[in-house]
Amino acid sequence: MYKIVANWKMYLDVQKSRHLAAQLNSWVSQIPPSELQFTLCPSDMALWDVARQIESSMIKLGAQNISRSEAHGAFTGQTPAQQLREAGVIEVLLGHSEVRQFLGDTDEVVAQKLQVALHHELTPIICVGETKADRDSGVADGVVAQQLATIFEHISLQEGITIAYEPRWAISSVSQGATCSPEDAAHMHQVIEHALHEHGDTEVVERIPILYGGSVSEKNILSYLDQPRIDGVLIGGASAKEEDFHSIVKLLTEHIS
Ligand code: PGA
Repeated sequence: MYKIVANWKMYLDVQKSRHLAAQLNSWVSQIPPSELQFTLCPSDMALWDVARQIESSMIKLGAQNISRSEAHGAFTGQTPAQQLREAGVIEVLLGHSEVRQFLGDTDEVVAQKLQVALHHELTPIICVGETKADRDSGVADGVVAQQLATIFEHISLQEGITIAYEPRWAISSVSQGATCSPEDAAHMHQVIEHALHEHGDTEVVERIPILYGGSVSEKNILSYLDQPRIDGVLIGGASAKEEDFHSIVKLLTEHIS
């Protein structure tokens, strides 16, 4: 089974989000969810509309971020986990590199948000990944392992968590065409799996999907999914373009049949 998560960032307005969600629903209606599992992460403003388009399908609704605060109150500009649940959200991205960059989330903040997400029975998709400088100086493995160590210092690793490896330099909006080779991605997935073993039982670790994200497109998706322990993908830009997303879904449908 492959897990496919579409992160629409701030690419689509509400009307386009609604349209693309309905399209995906029609494209995947014949696909058994035991083979391909899709999650859509629209902007918060589009959550309710997208929820309506996918309510009778196996497509899951995801959010791009949550507030780290459990309590109601004076937290201007935050979206509480409880209200995401009300909108039908069941998964949430945590520690996406753009949230780390623009909103300053650290691994400690990601750990707090993880606690909140688990408390509200939201499935967290924890994003980790190194910068270009980390990779160039040969410390990428250590940086990613340390991110996981900080996040899982206080919260035990448990079933229902997903990890996404997203090398920051390979995200399409900043990569200028650079991509992470499938072999390098697979190596990092091994590093991640090894790091997870430090924080949880083997049985739990085996059930944690590890996704790859960073300039995934119809041209390269199968080369990532063919690698060991790449259990799915987190797709940004290509998932927000109807034609590209449709090509990806068609390719995946052929691949599993
Ligand atoms: P990208 O984005 O597919 O456009 O590189 C991935 C992400 O940021 O989650």
